[in-house]
This record gives sequence, structure tokens and C-alpha cells, in this order.
Amino acid sequence: MDNIVKKVEEIIKRDSLSYQEQAVDHYDFWGEHIKYVYNEAIALAEKYKADSEIVRLGALLHDIALVRKVGDRENHHTNGRIIAEEILTELKYPEDKKVKVLGCVEHHRSSKNAMNLEELCVADADILAHFDNIPMLFHSMFTRKGVSLKDSRDYMRETFKKDFQDLSEHTKKEFKGRYKEICKTVLGDEYE
Ligand SMILES: [Fe+2]
Ligand SMILES: [Fe+2]
Repeated sequence: MDNIVKKVEEIIKRDSLSYQEQAVDHYDFWGEHIKYVYNEAIALAEKYKADSEIVRLGALLHDIALVRKVGDRENHHTNGRIIAEEILTELKYPEDKKVKVLGCVEHHRSSKNAMNLEELCVADADILAHFDNIPMLFHSMFTRKGVSLKDSRDYMRETFKKDFQDLSEHTKKEFKGRYKEICKTVLGDEYE
């Protein structure tokens, strides 16, 4: 398992670096997002007894279309599936397992789309990663000019709410306490 996961991790880190070199804001995809998704996904796979290799590869590859700047954001899950298939085929990854990883990539945008435990782990991890790296949210606020503090807070509140709603019921239940604390600390809100 470690071999294929290591190889894919190297590919993602390399692609992320070239994205970072070209992007105007030098966004570090690996360091600011994928690393967090990967770690959350590993923890969820263990907790939900999902196939760890499938989940790890799904987490590493889930945003590959964004990292490689292929197509638009709206379709990055379907474009990502195509790119992930090319990568895994190149690495001679077995067909039956490949299909499962591709499902994780295609269905990562909400736990509501998840067809199995592995897909659910990747979708939930993608959301939890936002809460692990709140400075990234501030960064995206501050790079938008002329936004008032009130609008910033409303934007963050909506983002948090949508993320929380997109979690699977089980993860939502477990995460609720931390979510409440985050809303209180970051937004100055009481939890509703
Ligand atoms: Fe995504
Ligand atoms: Fe993501």
C-alpha cells in the first residue's frame, strides 16, 4: 500500500509546487489544503473501518483538476476523475481498486453524494480540513478588496454553516462540539 500512496503523494506535491510557482497569490495547495484533507481522511478511515488505501488515494487526488488547473471549479470533480484515472493507470494500479478511488474523487463535494464508506471519508475530510485551517479562510477574505468586517463575518458564517450541513450525520454528531467552539471563537457567535 505504502508504495502507491507514496508515489501519488509525490505527484501531488510536485504539481502543487508548480501551481504555487505560477499562482498570483502563491497558494500552496498541498500545505494549505490537501495535507489537512489527507490527515482527516486517514483518521476517519480508521474510525469508520473504511479501506485505508482507497481513502488515502482518494484524499490525495480529490482536487487534482484544481491543482493542475484543468477546466473550471464547477466541474473539478468530474475532470479530477479523468486525471486521476490517467495517473493510476500509468502507475498500473489494479482496475477494481482504481474504480473505488475514482468514485472518491468524483463524489467528494458533499457527503450526500457518497456511495460507500470510502467516499464518505473523503467528502467529510474535505470539509473538516476547512475547520483545521481557518487562516486560509481569512486569507481568502483579505484578498478580496473592499469587503466590510460585517460582510466578512457573514461570509464566514455561511461557509461554516454550509460545510457543517454537508457533513455526514455521524461525523456531524461527533464534530458538533468543536463546531460550536469554532463559531464562538472565530465569529464571536453563540451556536444556533
Ligand atoms: Fe474539491
Ligand atoms: Fe478539497
